[in-house]
Amino acid sequence: MSEIQIDKFNRKNFGPDFIWGVSTAAPQTEGAWNEDGKSPSIWDTFSMKKGKIFQGQNPKIACDFYHRYREDIQLIKNLGIKNFRFSLSWSRILPNGTGPINHKGLDFYKSLCDELLEHGIEPWPTLYHWDLPQVLEDKGGWTNREVLNWFEYYSETIGKHLGNRGIQNWMVLNEPMVFTGAGHFLGYHAPGRRGFSNFIPAMLHAALCTGKKKKKLRSHQSSINIGSTYSCSFITPRTNSEADLIAAKKADALLNRLFIEPACGLGFPLSDLNVLNKVEKLMRPEDEKNLKVDLDFIGVQNYTREIVESCWYVPYLKARLVNAKKRGVPHTEMEWEVYPESIYEMLKKFSRYRPEIPLLVTENGAAFKDNWDGSNELKDPLRVEYLQSHISQVLRAKNEGIDVRGYFVWTLMDNFEWAEGYRPRFGLVYLDFETQKRVIKDSGKWFSSFISENFEGVEKKIVALEN
Ligand code: FCB
Repeated sequence: MSEIQIDKFNRKNFGPDFIWGVSTAAPQTEGAWNEDGKSPSIWDTFSMKKGKIFQGQNPKIACDFYHRYREDIQLIKNLGIKNFRFSLSWSRILPNGTGPINHKGLDFYKSLCDELLEHGIEPWPTLYHWDLPQVLEDKGGWTNREVLNWFEYYSETIGKHLGNRGIQNWMVLNEPMVFTGAGHFLGYHAPGRRGFSNFIPAMLHAALCTGKKKKKLRSHQSSINIGSTYSCSFITPRTNSEADLIAAKKADALLNRLFIEPACGLGFPLSDLNVLNKVEKLMRPEDEKNLKVDLDFIGVQNYTREIVESCWYVPYLKARLVNAKKRGVPHTEMEWEVYPESIYEMLKKFSRYRPEIPLLVTENGAAFKDNWDGSNELKDPLRVEYLQSHISQVLRAKNEGIDVRGYFVWTLMDNFEWAEGYRPRFGLVYLDFETQKRVIKDSGKWFSSFISENFEGVEKKIVALEN
């Protein structure tokens, strides 16, 4: 390990055009799960099943953002945050999946975008953040090739009705690896499907949808930027043994390369993951070229790194992740290792695919236990430290010439963290779910002052791995 000292850094080191924002998602914040014509999404139905979500919790109310978005936009404005990433709920806009529009649902997003723009905040919508309408799941959901047509219809609708409202930046999918992997292979996320027979078609269709949707959005406003977001974690083999090196290579292909490589025109990384070869049987001749997407930016989403070791009894992959808590290293409430260099390594890796495509960190953040005493303040030094050390690694990548143009904190306020329910708190703002009271944490105050013009600077050591 070597250390590079950066004396002080502040937002000025990133240049005046660097984009600073916060990220959220509809199913984690909106609530109002069955109001104004919205039909259930797979997360609404999944959470009703026994034993799926921590303490049987559900996203029915969440942060009640559907009703409180005006106050929350004011809060974002007060924090001086100029970019807000959120997602659109498909089942709010098209309760039947396709077919007639639910105008009340659409109007919500129109007002949300208008309100943001009026407050000088740039909207960054994601079309799909994991909440498929249950009616489509009943027809096979992501495993059914028809999803390409459903998606086309949905994106066409969005393009037609929201495409001309001055929204400059769009994202197609949120982390296809996570919703296909956790939702269609491991089954611990909605819709709870398992195994390769579900995962492989879902993977192919999710990869193909990115390109489809993009064209449909573009046809309504040509000057917009359309990206998509990808989860990634720096992979380290546990030892230098050949078996661990092979395990790490497979984990990298699965967790980091599986979706970005086809999008960049390289196809699925099957040579390092031959267990997925069956996808070739499902592919039609035109699919090969349709996997490639002409992205205007790549959203990189990073939280941690993974240590990987070989494991003979894990079917097919023969590899497993070594849990951070068990390793005794600093970790978050999600038991994810705090390892800031990972974000630098991932920006570097993703910049090599298509160096001409800018990168944006569209999610990074941490869940730590917050002890709220009922007052209007909350000290969360670990989250402040996490953000500082990760932002300094983004600066390191930028200083090395990587074209990274923005950074979005996950997340604005504590919300519904999928299968983990409301336990992990990632927010810059604390949410008391009983009363819906919002309390700005110290991390929120810190981020707000950091991105303001007159912030003095933060001292940070950047620990770099020797290459
Ligand atoms: C990402 C998801 C986001 C949030 C964070 C913690 O994988 O995109 O919705 O849950 O993890």
